[in-house]
Amino acid sequence: MIQMQSMLDAADNSGARRLMCIKVLGGSRRRYANIGDVIKTFEENKFKIVGMKMLHLTKKQAEGFYAVHSARPFFDSLTTFMSSGPVVVMVLEAVDVIARLRTVMGATNPANAAEGNIRKRFATGIEYNVIHGSDAPETAAVEIAYYFNQLELVG
Ligand code: RTP
Ligand code: MG
Repeated sequence: MIQMQSMLDAADNSGARRLMCIKVLGGSRRRYANIGDVIKTFEENKFKIVGMKMLHLTKKQAEGFYAVHSARPFFDSLTTFMSSGPVVVMVLEAVDVIARLRTVMGATNPANAAEGNIRKRFATGIEYNVIHGSDAPETAAVEIAYYFNQLELVG
């Protein structure tokens, strides 16, 4: 039993880190996130923060981060928004992290997001949806390496 539990823990931990990005910071709740509220929500939901920094991306850096969406019609406006002010990037760790991150973030379009989640509480539109989260272990590895080196991750 103990052995089985430790195998499960190892499986969880092997893919347990995800990048989370608070998209743009500022004073107004209309388009911008309140960093404290977002961090508090993750802490209350038992995510462990193992890396964190604030950056102001250039347009090129935002385009690099969202390269997967380069053919989409909203690519230019999304990356313009992402480079319009500082962002906070974090590496979060949790058990069952993919599903739990999605739940705490909420649906991409805040109009469809469930009551209480971050996008429902703070987002004002699909392109101003407050928060980004990695959607798979492979994308997490690329996204974490985009912003952090090993020395900047703790725990
Ligand atoms: P994210 O990657 O930022 O965590 O968001 P997501 O998985 O929920 O959504 P995704 O489909 O990956 O889209 C990435 C971001 O592009 C913007 N978007 N705009 N105007 C539109 O129709 C549209 N669709 C997506 C959103 O800001 C979304 O977070
Ligand atoms: Mg996505």
